[in-house]
Amino acid sequence: MPLMAIGYLSGTWLGALTVCRLAGVGDPRLAGSANPGFSNVLRLYGPRLALATLMVDVIKGMPVLWLAMGVGLPPWGLGLVGLGVLLGHTYPAWHRFRGGKGVASAFGVMLVLTPWVALCCAALWTLLAWRVRTAAVASLASAAVAPLASIWLAPEFVGVVMVFTLLVLGRHALNIRRLGRGEESGF
Ligand code: G3P
Repeated sequence: MPLMAIGYLSGTWLGALTVCRLAGVGDPRLAGSANPGFSNVLRLYGPRLALATLMVDVIKGMPVLWLAMGVGLPPWGLGLVGLGVLLGHTYPAWHRFRGGKGVASAFGVMLVLTPWVALCCAALWTLLAWRVRTAAVASLASAAVAPLASIWLAPEFVGVVMVFTLLVLGRHALNIRRLGRGEESGF
């Protein structure tokens, strides 16, 4: 489906790489957790660059989703376009399929498709990140809660939200192993 392909292309724009390049700092894939995303940029370069990274990753999928809504795609079609965005972020062809963990880009997609679910997840993420000081714990818990919140708040998108959750959990395999060994680094 062409809009899913456009979603994929939008997703391949990794905010962390653009922001770090523009700021003239090092490649975030070469330090810290090596993840090109908000948490690692925060860890390495502080809140200003991290927020810019977050903004790019959250908004990049929105135009194609608005377009898909404008042409009247049904929920399953919108879900596929959103999945395209997430796959682009996590497996970007131009970066040898090594992308981010999908938390911010999934949040951006959900902000358009399932805004109340997205806001619940963001509140939980913020609370846990503040209390536990570990991004992966906040991300894993929010990803796990998203399908449950969807059952209640956006039942037409439960299927795609479950796929997002599986993808995000899978991308955290290394974090889960580190958490198990008590070696996960905080912010
Ligand atoms: O959003 C990604 C986060 O959950 C984990 O990132 O850099 O701590 O592996 P990081």
